[in-house]
Amino acid sequence: MEVIIQRDRVAATILVAQLVARELQMKPSLVLGLATGRTMETLYAELVRMHVEDDLDFSLCRTFNLDEYVGLGPDHPNSYRHFMEDNLFSKVNIDSRNTHLPDGLAGNLAAECVAYEQRITEAGGIDLQILGIGEAGHIGFNEPLSALRSRTRAKALAPLTLQQNAPLFPNPGDMPTRGITMGVGTILESRRCILLATGRHKASIIAKAVEGPITSMVTASALQLHPKCQVIVDEAASCDLQGREYYRWIFDNEPEWEPFR
Ligand code: GLP
Repeated sequence: MEVIIQRDRVAATILVAQLVARELQMKPSLVLGLATGRTMETLYAELVRMHVEDDLDFSLCRTFNLDEYVGLGPDHPNSYRHFMEDNLFSKVNIDSRNTHLPDGLAGNLAAECVAYEQRITEAGGIDLQILGIGEAGHIGFNEPLSALRSRTRAKALAPLTLQQNAPLFPNPGDMPTRGITMGVGTILESRRCILLATGRHKASIIAKAVEGPITSMVTASALQLHPKCQVIVDEAASCDLQGREYYRWIFDNEPEWEPFR
């Protein structure tokens, strides 16, 4: 794991966008794993800007989102499909047939989860997975107690997740209590992953994920097992990290990061 601390939310987000752009330029048919949430809005805005101003090309890119709410269809304003269309897909030159999210309206959820895994495999696996982190320590909707080898499945949402995401619903009581999510095992198979977290409210969970023990109570801690995982945070989200000066020193001295300093 590498931890990269940027001075503020904008700088952290721009760095992640630059890394995505570089991967996409190197491999135009990149299989990109995507996330949702407020943190991602700024990231997608930057990728849209790169598309409009710098011709960043998504025409061959294939995407798989981490998760979707059970019971919400693409037309529901709070569905993650809707979020993705609104923030990214409708604003770049991606082929909608290449964008994948679990179907929250599937009649047979178990079959939908198996089919989703199958589609990822057929695409050749995920090259780059972008992740946010919930305050419950989840990646995707892998709530506390999720098996560290879990695959895509339906999952009951933890009380803290309901509390964190309900304000995004005009009527907070309408928030679904379950999601379909890639499993921790699915995420760990991505060839590279980047977790973006910003803000003081993420500091304590980032410290647990990065420096705490690997535990199913904080599924982001499983990323410690990933061979190529970068955690990119702003100053605020880094402030509970014991080793932050050391991580800073590595970033400042690692030749690979030269173009991004
Ligand atoms: C939701 C998503 C997660 C995401 C989290 C963070 O719960 N299922 O994948 O990481 O939101 O949200 P935010 O960026 O709004 O803090």
